[in-house]
Amino acid sequence: MDAFAQLAATSVVKHFGPARNRHTAVDGVSLTVEPGQRIGIVGESGSGKSTLARIMVGLETPSAGTVTFNGTSLRSLLSMRASRVELRREVQFVSQDTTSSFDPLRTLRDSIRQPAQRLLGLDRRAADAKVDETVASLGMAPALVDRNPAEVSGGQRQRFAIARALVVRPRLLVCDEVVSALDVSVQGSILNLLKRYCLESGAALVFVSHGLPATAFVCSELVVMKNGQIVEHGDTHQVLHAPRHPYTTALLAAFRGGGARTAA
Ligand SMILES: Nc1ncnc2c1ncn2[C@@H]1O[C@H](COP(=O)(O)OP(=O)(O)OP(=O)(O)O)[C@@H](O)[C@H]1O
Ligand SMILES: [Mg+2]
Repeated sequence: MDAFAQLAATSVVKHFGPARNRHTAVDGVSLTVEPGQRIGIVGESGSGKSTLARIMVGLETPSAGTVTFNGTSLRSLLSMRASRVELRREVQFVSQDTTSSFDPLRTLRDSIRQPAQRLLGLDRRAADAKVDETVASLGMAPALVDRNPAEVSGGQRQRFAIARALVVRPRLLVCDEVVSALDVSVQGSILNLLKRYCLESGAALVFVSHGLPATAFVCSELVVMKNGQIVEHGDTHQVLHAPRHPYTTALLAAFRGGGARTAA
């Protein structure tokens, strides 16, 4: 499999629920991500951001439409072990739900070492060195990584979830509300780290958040979702300063009204 060049969602639709009472969470979305792009997806709660992100990494199957990685459908790449491993090395996902994303019976180190061994083919010693290096880059005390997930705080666990994604140095990182649970000072350091990782490695980022200021800080482009659709997509500066859709204007006003910072 070639290195990540493009991930493309085309006319993606996702319905939930029984046919006679179905709810359309994503309603005809097309979005392309290429190396170096940092795309923020914002929008009110329930607008379909997480569903779209999960579909784009293959954790959820679309009801209609396609997602392709370098032109090949995710579905077919995920159906074969070799290409699944390569895909997971190229594209990593960090979810907001860190409680269920770590095995409670294993140490954080075990969980973070696993992708380094399985996806990069490192031996245990080399994988451990990578774990330590990645954890240190996230500004955490080294000893914490040898605890179980329940023995660290929610904010620390969130950073370990990011470490587990970054340990394989993915070419595309998809983050769903990864800073929402963190206090503001920690948020800032994580946002800086994610941005720096992308700028230095040329990796792409899809950053889903209902926090507009944080998203605008990290991302070079903003996508605004409403009712499962993309209502606006443009570079961060344009969306913040010359929004084209009334919903974006309302969203910006809500943040400004709340005294939130909207620096690009
Ligand atoms: N597994 C599911 N089963 C049924 N409905 C779902 C499921 N996942 C999401 N939905 C519904 O789809 C819609 C979109 O949800 P989604 O989680 O994608 O929104 P979101 O924009 O990420 O919201 P938030 O900002 O609150 O995280 C919501 O109405 C939600 O209730
Ligand atoms: Mg969500």
